[in-house]
Amino acid sequence: MKSNPFAWRTLIATGLALAATLGFAGPDPAASTIRPPGYQPLKGHAKAGMALFNDTKLSTNGMSCASCHTNHAAFGASFAQPYPHTVAMARDQLGRKSVYLDEMVQACMVMPMAARPLPWNSQALADLTAYTAGLQTTFKPAH
Ligand code: HEC
Repeated sequence: MKSNPFAWRTLIATGLALAATLGFAGPDPAASTIRPPGYQPLKGHAKAGMALFNDTKLSTNGMSCASCHTNHAAFGASFAQPYPHTVAMARDQLGRKSVYLDEMVQACMVMPMAARPLPWNSQALADLTAYTAGLQTTFKPAH
């Protein structure tokens, strides 16, 4: 019997829609923090990123990035190093040996913020990453 390409397409489309509905944060939070193939980061705007950094609507638990990271709080000594680098939380909880800054933004989205990762091609991810990169320039590790 000849296979029906339309049926396959429908099946694949349904699968993708289901994956999008469930959110990648659900079944595999580690995978949702990995840059997709061919990823080209958008240019971010730090000022817009600052508003997002303070926005509790980004999380499902009432937190904003600023709830933890105001005045550089909760950043480990690794934050002083250029990216990509090892971040203890991403290594211990997600098995990620090395992360880029935007991947770490996603890691905090899916773990402490208890939310879905931001779309990789979103201006929001680019802006939040740009603002966080600015925080990094003034970061001094405690020891
Ligand atoms: C509940 C507290 C909490 C919230 C909310 C939170 N984070 Fe984090 N963040 C942490 C902790 C804890 C670490 C891990 C520190 C470590 O392992 O060295 C971390 C690490 C990071 C790092 C990596 C620093 C490095 O060492 O390279 C970045 C970047 C970051 N967070 C950005 C964000 C952004 C952006 C948001 C909002 C989307 C956010 N965080 C929300 C607690 C939080």
